[in-house]
Amino acid sequence: MAVESIRVGTGFPVQRPRRLRASETIRRLVQETRLGTDDLIYPLFVVPGTGVREEIDAMPGQYHLSVDMLLRRVEESLGLGVRACILFGIPEHKDATGSSAFDPQGPVQRAIREIKARFPEMYVITDVCLCEYTDHGHCGVVQDGRVANDPTLDLLAREALSHAEAGADMVAPSDMMDGRVAAIRKALDENGFEEIPIMAYSAKYASAYYGPFRVAAQSAPRFGDRRSYQMDPPNAREALKEVELDIAEGADIVMVKPALAYLDVLWRVKEATKVPVACYNVSGEYAMVKAAAQRGWIDERRVVLETLTGMKRAGADLILTYHALDVARWLREDA
Ligand code: PBG
Ligand code: ZN
Repeated sequence: MAVESIRVGTGFPVQRPRRLRASETIRRLVQETRLGTDDLIYPLFVVPGTGVREEIDAMPGQYHLSVDMLLRRVEESLGLGVRACILFGIPEHKDATGSSAFDPQGPVQRAIREIKARFPEMYVITDVCLCEYTDHGHCGVVQDGRVANDPTLDLLAREALSHAEAGADMVAPSDMMDGRVAAIRKALDENGFEEIPIMAYSAKYASAYYGPFRVAAQSAPRFGDRRSYQMDPPNAREALKEVELDIAEGADIVMVKPALAYLDVLWRVKEATKVPVACYNVSGEYAMVKAAAQRGWIDERRVVLETLTGMKRAGADLILTYHALDVARWLREDA
């Protein structure tokens, strides 16, 4: 058959990609990426006291919760099929070394025990860092005006261990000190917690997108910034180096954070590694969507689903997001 008859005789153009977009059914059949409730991790902020449920400034729909109120949220989350959460704590006291980070009676430790007692099916991950617990707000101890790496490692290891002792299912160091994964792995292993995985915030950038979180966690540095330990935003190859080191030190899952401005990094990390890759859809990304949606400028549901699908397409196996419960509701409606 002549080339011409293929083109002209069967109509032009031969390839019509629109054929596979004709109905919802065919679109779903050829869908390459699927966002699922199983991939979501819901961040929660725990505070001391009882009966506390205060909405967080710049994070509408997210709350400071005392343990009793937190349990209600956990139940709601499980009911929607979101079976993993990550806990952040705001302690009663802060000091120079962040010692309440490993207080067995701290809000996070109490929350873990209560959640696992009432809702053992909830997978409880903890954020391991000192910035919520130090009076200067840095993620490590300060010596001579600088954040000192090695003296911080022991404190992070003690914090991770205290979370494991309280019953945490997984720990997630977010401090960006060198060698923290190895220090935490060693402390866990030496104390019989060799089965507890580590999700490392490996490629964590010094980002302005953490603004609302720092107000929420009362963890903004009192002096300077975090640029001497968090990554410089222009660098992507360096992310691969951080990921490689964390895996060598024993990380089970690696994370890229923030998500939206770093989807290229997410893609590169996914291509370069064999471990599951997480991304953190951070507070500033959430706040922007919420603010525009409140003004009626965007369709929140469609924007959120499109954004999180983009993260999956870029390589995310897991997504940490404040939108988790809404997304679970929407996916259920669409099913
Ligand atoms: C603590 C920590 C931060 C976030 C997660 N863990 C803040 C920071 O590094 O300053 C940010 C989360 C968010 O913005 O949603 N180190
Ligand atoms: Zn920190």
